[in-house]
Amino acid sequence: MAKVKKTFFCKNCGHESAKWLGCCPACGEWNTFVEEIISKPTTSAVGINNSNSQAQLIGDIDFSHELRINLNSAEINRILGGGLVCGSMVLVGGEPGIGKSTLSLQIALNCPNLKTLYISGEESAQQIKIRATRLGANDAQCYILSETLLETIIMQTKEIKPDILIIDSIQTLYTERIDSSAGSISQIRDCAMQLLKFAKETDTPVFVIGHITKDGTLAGPKVLEHIVDVVLQFEGDNNHAYRILRATKNRFGSTAETGIFEMQHNGLREIENPSEILISQHNDSSFSGVAIAATMDGIRPLFIETQSLVSTAAYGVPQRSTTGIDVRRLNMLLAVLEKRAGFRLAMKDVFFNITGGLRISDTAADMAIVSSVLSSNFDIPIPINCCFCAEVGLTGEFRPVSHVNQRINEAARLNFKKIFISKYNKLEDKQPSSIEIIPVAKIEELMKIIFRKT
Ligand code: TYD
Ligand code: MG
Repeated sequence: MAKVKKTFFCKNCGHESAKWLGCCPACGEWNTFVEEIISKPTTSAVGINNSNSQAQLIGDIDFSHELRINLNSAEINRILGGGLVCGSMVLVGGEPGIGKSTLSLQIALNCPNLKTLYISGEESAQQIKIRATRLGANDAQCYILSETLLETIIMQTKEIKPDILIIDSIQTLYTERIDSSAGSISQIRDCAMQLLKFAKETDTPVFVIGHITKDGTLAGPKVLEHIVDVVLQFEGDNNHAYRILRATKNRFGSTAETGIFEMQHNGLREIENPSEILISQHNDSSFSGVAIAATMDGIRPLFIETQSLVSTAAYGVPQRSTTGIDVRRLNMLLAVLEKRAGFRLAMKDVFFNITGGLRISDTAADMAIVSSVLSSNFDIPIPINCCFCAEVGLTGEFRPVSHVNQRINEAARLNFKKIFISKYNKLEDKQPSSIEIIPVAKIEELMKIIFRKT
């Protein structure tokens, strides 16, 4: 019998050690080591082995053939940096139930003149067929295989020779080279390495789906993120229909791009103009506590609605609750309001919400957040044709933001009549005539203009 070899792996970063350790020397995480049994060596695991590998002059490298595959989806193409690069490996991560399988099956079905192979280790071929019918599958050249053994998968793939290979999910795969169970770190790492080798050798692009753990990181070692070329995060609130696909790593494009989708009964629909749906349409009268923020999502302007509710605190300690932004950011802005605008917070509860279940990290939303809080506090509505973009500094001044001209143009396109910006922002000479640009320097000034308070 082969001698059983045991090793310990860090669940967080994949660091290998001969004995158990409390703290991982590689990533510094505590209590992450797990024991795994390996009877066959994993060290032979692979990089990109071209047998004829020889150094070449960069000018001599031939890339005359078309490098990118058009996926028939404007959003996904854009996120990937203009199409799927041949021979690349794309990891799609996301929480259970967010729609990873739906997204990847839709990619497989929507490429009319490409042969795709969709491999599922989680669902049977019949179940996939049911889903495909739901997605309105036409006569796509999509092959389905329900299998978890990597060696069989690679054999089948070499036989079918698909243009795109999709693996749902890497955690269900196992290879015969290693004895530990599917989903263990050494299995994930070795399977990913073999798939990468296959992708680079045959020039086939591979989509790999990965689950993420409760704390939001990809399950399995970080090593997986190092191996692949592109990491896409599929996120969103399960209670909302909107989903965001975000590139967190991209060797062939920008990581600033995101795509917004809506989950419908027949699959995911791309949303080309997210601002139009994120801003609720109360045409008749406006409500207090609502302000529109002109934020940027990568290089695309995204207009969102911020809502605040300020009420008298029922208990001794006032409550602060946010969805869509970091609660510490709200606390910071409230502290600035207290200091600079004489806003008495000690007896007020503040609840803050961004509609649509989005999360915003663009600090240009600060001015809108502050305005919505003030509006709710005074119970004075902000006219619905106004929007805001500026960062709030600790001294209460409005600081300039990037891409201000793009934001102004988008505001004009969305029929806003006024946009409040920082006084210190540099503007282009030519501005849209349909919108009034109001530069403001300080919170006190904003209060005077909008709420007529001094
Ligand atoms: P799924 O893609 O299986 O999620 P994951 O693979 O990330 O675990 O499906 C996610 C959810 O999407 C599921 O709860 C049902 C819903 N859904 C729709 O609303 N419409 C559809 O057309 C499909 C296929 C799924
Ligand atoms: Mg799934």
